[in-house]
Amino acid sequence: MECEDKDIAKAAEWVRGARRIAVLTGAGISAESGLPTFRGPGGLWRSFRPEELATPQAFAADPRLVWEWYDWRRSVHAKVEPNAGHRALADLGRRAGEFSLITQNVDSLHEAAGSRAVVHLHGSLWTLRCTRCGKEEMNRQVPLEPLPPVCECGAMQRPGVVWFGEPLPDKPLAQALAAAQKAEVMLVVGTSSMVYPAAALPKVARDSGAKVIEVNPEETEMTLAAHASVRGKAGEVLPEIMARVTRDGPGK
Ligand code: OAD
Repeated sequence: MECEDKDIAKAAEWVRGARRIAVLTGAGISAESGLPTFRGPGGLWRSFRPEELATPQAFAADPRLVWEWYDWRRSVHAKVEPNAGHRALADLGRRAGEFSLITQNVDSLHEAAGSRAVVHLHGSLWTLRCTRCGKEEMNRQVPLEPLPPVCECGAMQRPGVVWFGEPLPDKPLAQALAAAQKAEVMLVVGTSSMVYPAAALPKVARDSGAKVIEVNPEETEMTLAAHASVRGKAGEVLPEIMARVTRDGPGK
């Protein structure tokens, strides 16, 4: 592994000694499953314009275009599997005393890897929401038929994701803030830390006394504020941290 051994050792020691652990993930954790990130090379926002596809205004102007893009993303997501990084976090969730897994991702790869009670800050590609009655439903049909999909009340449904300019859903945001405030350790994995309010969570955790550990092959907006920054891929670094946590036995 290319990252510094001492950073991994420090991260493993903090994780092993913590009773309350929070994790914030972003698109990078799913990169090794084959899903594109948003901002890096090959990222979605390099080829697509978010203001044409991921805003309430774009949907109002051309719902079919927006739905075609989300239907395409659903078809890509339907083919991928969780990777070793998702599995390591599921393992950590089973071992930790109190554990909160907070994700910005709209895939469900954490759940597919066995994580439970995942806090979804930006919604899910597999949720459809009625534009009139607000009812939400889970739907895994690929491709969607009809497109745009229709609620049982007769109105058009929209993707159950958070678009630019929209607030985050209240309950997940409150759960994420509470977890960040309580955490003794927060792992920040595969996010550029450019999108708020998610990007504020590690700062909340740090200000509340947590050790903040970043796992990312690149430097990010968060790097300077983290107590440890492990340069590497989630699918390599997280299993290595877990191997050390389990090998060295329980901490305090
Ligand atoms: P970004 O695309 O902004 O950042 C992805 C991060 O993952 C970068 O910092 C990469 O260096 C890192 N990365 C790449 N490969 C990795 C790997 N194998 N292991 C670990 N890290 C890796 O994605 P997010 O930060 O998730 O919002 O973006 C935040 C939000 O912006 C998304 O949730 C989405 C987007 O607009 C909505 O859809 C509302």
